[in-house]
Amino acid sequence: MSKSTALAFVIAALSYSLFFHSSSSPKPHYHALFLSASFSDNASVALNLRALTRRPHVAGSEANAEAAAYVHSAFISSSLKSHVVAYPVSLTYPIHRSLVLTPRDSAKPITFALEQEQIGDNPYANEVMPTFHGYAKSGNVSGPVVYANYGRVEDFVGLNASGAVVIARYGRIYRGDIVNNAYQAGAVGVVIYTDKRDYGGEECFPASKWMPPSGVQVGTVYNGLGDPTTPGWASVDGCERLSEEAVELSGDSTLIPSLPVSAADAEVILKTMEGDVADGDVYLVGPGPGILNLTYIGKTVIAEIENVIGVIEGEEEPDRYVILGNHRDAWTFGAVDPNSGTAVLLEIAQRLDKLQKRGWKPRRTIILCNWDAEEYALIGSTEWVEENREMLTSRAVAYLNVDCAVSGPGFHASATPQLDELIKEAAQEVRDPDNTTQSIYESWIGSSNSGVIGRLGGGGSDYASFVQHVGVPAVDMRFGKDYPVYHSMYDDFTWMEKFGDSMFQRHVAMASVLGLVALRLADEEFLPFNYISYASELKKSAEDLEKLGHSIDVSPLIKSIQDLSTAARGINIEKKGIKGALRVRELNDRLMMAERALTDRDGLSERPWYKHLVYGPSKYDDYGSKSFPGVDDAIDDAKRLKTKASWELVQHQIWRVARAVRHASLVLKGELR
Ligand SMILES: *[C@@H]1O[C@H](CO)[C@@H](O)[C@H](O)[C@H]1NC(C)=O
Ligand SMILES: *[C@@H]1O[C@H](CO)[C@@H](O)[C@H](O)[C@H]1NC(C)=O
Ligand SMILES: *[C@@H]1O[C@H](CO)[C@@H](O)[C@H](O)[C@H]1NC(C)=O
Ligand SMILES: *[C@@H]1O[C@H](CO)[C@@H](O)[C@H](O)[C@H]1NC(C)=O
Ligand SMILES: *[C@@H]1O[C@H](CO)[C@@H](O)[C@H](O)[C@H]1NC(C)=O
Repeated sequence: MSKSTALAFVIAALSYSLFFHSSSSPKPHYHALFLSASFSDNASVALNLRALTRRPHVAGSEANAEAAAYVHSAFISSSLKSHVVAYPVSLTYPIHRSLVLTPRDSAKPITFALEQEQIGDNPYANEVMPTFHGYAKSGNVSGPVVYANYGRVEDFVGLNASGAVVIARYGRIYRGDIVNNAYQAGAVGVVIYTDKRDYGGEECFPASKWMPPSGVQVGTVYNGLGDPTTPGWASVDGCERLSEEAVELSGDSTLIPSLPVSAADAEVILKTMEGDVADGDVYLVGPGPGILNLTYIGKTVIAEIENVIGVIEGEEEPDRYVILGNHRDAWTFGAVDPNSGTAVLLEIAQRLDKLQKRGWKPRRTIILCNWDAEEYALIGSTEWVEENREMLTSRAVAYLNVDCAVSGPGFHASATPQLDELIKEAAQEVRDPDNTTQSIYESWIGSSNSGVIGRLGGGGSDYASFVQHVGVPAVDMRFGKDYPVYHSMYDDFTWMEKFGDSMFQRHVAMASVLGLVALRLADEEFLPFNYISYASELKKSAEDLEKLGHSIDVSPLIKSIQDLSTAARGINIEKKGIKGALRVRELNDRLMMAERALTDRDGLSERPWYKHLVYGPSKYDDYGSKSFPGVDDAIDDAKRLKTKASWELVQHQIWRVARAVRHASLVLKGELR
């Protein structure tokens, strides 16, 4: 062999190995192993969940620091490079609460104990915090009681809530919006209760899954994301902070005191009421004659919260991040919310460790995040996203969230639409834990939600900052949907073992689906994003707008969506002909950055933190997961104001979305004009 032939051979071998490395198919062998029975471990899921839910662990508590240490050491045992990112943040705790009902002028006042009945012999039941609303306004108010059903804007129509204490039930809209709607209607205070019609059954926990009569759903009433004293920037030591007065003026704080109460207490209050019968309802609406005196005094503290971060560095593209996240802090024991998700995250960590021991290395970096203080205002994830905004903008491929990962049977997913196909494919690879003769996908399309994927416009969990502030493609998954003991002291290990997941097989299946989505995003040469589903999803939402009238022209938006659809087809075809690591990387960058193009520097009007123009909460309901929140808000305003100018603002918002969608198609095409 001549020298030059030898050299040519070496070069050929080198480029072969480079070629092979970068364009080889995804490591299906490892992905099959990841899903295999020998890699799954429901016993360790149960063990982890039991340990994590031993004590109530609200953000800022010693018990939650203990839980953080547990997760940190579990990450380390799974060979993750793990570290803790702490932030000092503003939290509130209850100091004094009282609720007194005077049934009528001469009758003797009734003082409510505001306590949940202890069931079973949990030695840490006394550590459960008194029931309250996070960030509620402190104050001492009284007034006649008015019943406002679910507390929606429409529920206040025709009610005289002026000077009243409103009683409303949970279940349809975000509790902070209930308080705001009551305030708008002139109320001085609010109690929100758990109605047996929504959360009760024949029997209750521990005999069945339903909420006991004394059960109380606690939760935050703050409307913003992240530490209220550091809106838009990371809450690090020594940073700028808003004063309490400025926080109150921010528009995200509720302005009248509120308390959550049980079904039993609400029944006593509702029995004293007179007036008209509520629409299609058995209750009388008042006002009065019962008078409620409500006191809530909270204290605001700066507490340290801890995000636990674990990293597996990518072999070929270490600067591309596939991020999985779940929060750890809980209002009480947190067996469903959120530690079913934590147990899933730890199961994934354990399986990835087993894969690494078999020689697998991810192409891209995988980051596991265990967030803190989600319950207060998605604080841990939001501060982290704010602190790392530029790094995430340029490097984050996708964010995969689990919160209440398991509360019963039935798979649900919500996502940005370029991930739809990947989620469905992953669900086809995993057996339904409740019917092992078929896949999760088959059960899902046969279920009442017929395989429909929800969207991420609401502020329900830690995906919000990733999607709505930065424009990172994201998914949120769960087994089971609503569960009756949500945010009460009965969300504990016993409830999970009896009613949520007795064999912990749903947890295992969730780890399989979510983990497979992560593996494919981390390992495949081409990012498994399909923007054709994005275009068709946008088209559906745009067509809804066509019925508006008032000379609203939706055609600019329809046109930009057609361009996106063309670009999406184009990049799917282009993929097939591309070779060479740098060219592949360039195409992947376009797939990654197209979602960012849907964000806008100025954000939603009057809510500039929300940068995404397609997915965000609507102004009047933070749980509302609508498309085009800016357009929706403008429509709400125009319907109220009924002026030409207000309808012109609707048109302006449609133009803004149209421009963002056009930007996304330019990014996909990689076209510099
Ligand atoms: C609330 O006001 C009532 C009388 O209006 C008073 O008796 C009570 O002590 C006050 N409670 C608090 C906590 O300030
Ligand atoms: C509304 O109720 C308040 C007290 O509850 C009362 O003072 C007021 O007159 C009522 N307004 C109307 C329009 O009925
Ligand atoms: C409720 O508050 C009103 C107004 O402050 C007060 O007059 C009344 O005595 C209070 N009732 C009770 C039972 O504390
Ligand atoms: C389980 O799946 C099979 C199809 O594979 C279906 O025929 C059966 O009805 C399912 N069972 C339940 C309990 O849903
Ligand atoms: C794990 O699943 C098996 C069935 O596959 C079951 O027998 C066992 O009890 C489960 N373990 C736990 C801790 O639930």
